[in-house]
Amino acid sequence: MTQQKQKHVNLRIPGPTPVPDDILAAVAHPMVNHRGKEFAGVVERVTQRLKHFFVTEQDVMVLSCSGTGGLEAAVVNVLSPGDKVLAVSVGAFGDRFAQIAEVYGANVIPLNYEWGQAAHADDVRKALKADPEIKAVLVTHNETSTGVTNPLAQIAEVVREFDRLVVVDAVSSLGAIPLEMDAWGLDAVVTGSQKGWMVPPGLAFVAMSERGWRAFDTAKMPRFYFDLGKHRDAQAKGQTPFTPAMSIFFGLDVALIRMGDEGLESIHTRHRRMGEMTRREIKALGLQLLCQDERYASDTVTAVKCPEGIEVSAIRGMMEDEHNTVLAGGQAKMSGKIFRVGHLGLVEEEDIRETMDALAQTLEKLGFKR
Ligand SMILES: Cc1ncc(COP(=O)(O)O)c(C=O)c1O
Repeated sequence: MTQQKQKHVNLRIPGPTPVPDDILAAVAHPMVNHRGKEFAGVVERVTQRLKHFFVTEQDVMVLSCSGTGGLEAAVVNVLSPGDKVLAVSVGAFGDRFAQIAEVYGANVIPLNYEWGQAAHADDVRKALKADPEIKAVLVTHNETSTGVTNPLAQIAEVVREFDRLVVVDAVSSLGAIPLEMDAWGLDAVVTGSQKGWMVPPGLAFVAMSERGWRAFDTAKMPRFYFDLGKHRDAQAKGQTPFTPAMSIFFGLDVALIRMGDEGLESIHTRHRRMGEMTRREIKALGLQLLCQDERYASDTVTAVKCPEGIEVSAIRGMMEDEHNTVLAGGQAKMSGKIFRVGHLGLVEEEDIRETMDALAQTLEKLGFKR
């Protein structure tokens, strides 16, 4: 039983996700010397175990920042101002990725899709063919704002054909749904602790391929805190270049054992089950998914169109006040149009069941007619 469940809070947002009691207890570990032996053990274990989840032989660097910091790190460590990048965006986080590159002076070529749709490898091929100067492709694996999972393996395959860099926002996918960094040929992969990892916010994990590290050698965008060379060198000594969010490291140490015990495949299968169950139940209530083509529906978050005549805020308010169930709203242009159900990290059928029962009662109370 998690503490969340004991308090009967059903936190169904796509991060931060519920943190199990054993991990919460680990987060309360007393402070030690961050350059001492005990903490070096934590750094070594955590970075070693993360490789298994990234399915990579490369170093995984743990940065003390949220996921966005990790995305910024990925951008500034492989690119130079003026570099052309193709920014594939299917929602708010794809837009953010493009914006980071733009702020640092990249020449961003947008490849935008309607929100609710997935990106297509063929479009990426066309764009790369049309402009041989494009150096890198930025792509979101799982778009949390719309509940869409892009066909990353196929997109990466195309980028490999052209021998460009593929830089991936895997913040709300890695550790929950399949992603194989080395086999898929991904050059930079970023995720965040508060998503599938069942750990509080505060850490981002970033790994780079050999191609990524070669790009690092010549990349000229400014970098200091996020200089991955500094992080790689410090980690080799069981340290971080700057004082890390130690409490979250302690939690992550326990989380990765827990995830290892469950096993990568079982974790993926459980998320698939949660995604399918959520979509099935949402449709059974007479509601519509934002992602109409379910081949691309996310197994970590589901975006639901708000029915006509009912306010998203009314649904979310009643769910929270009367059922202790917390849903997310829509972001940016989807604000007021959709609500989102998170189902990643610590989640089982009973959590989805509870959510759907509460939603059915809420909709009835708000006068929803199918
Ligand atoms: C796909 C995706 N990218 C980036 C982020 C940004 O991460 P953070 O809020 O940890 O900076 C999020 C967080 O919701 C996300 O879901």
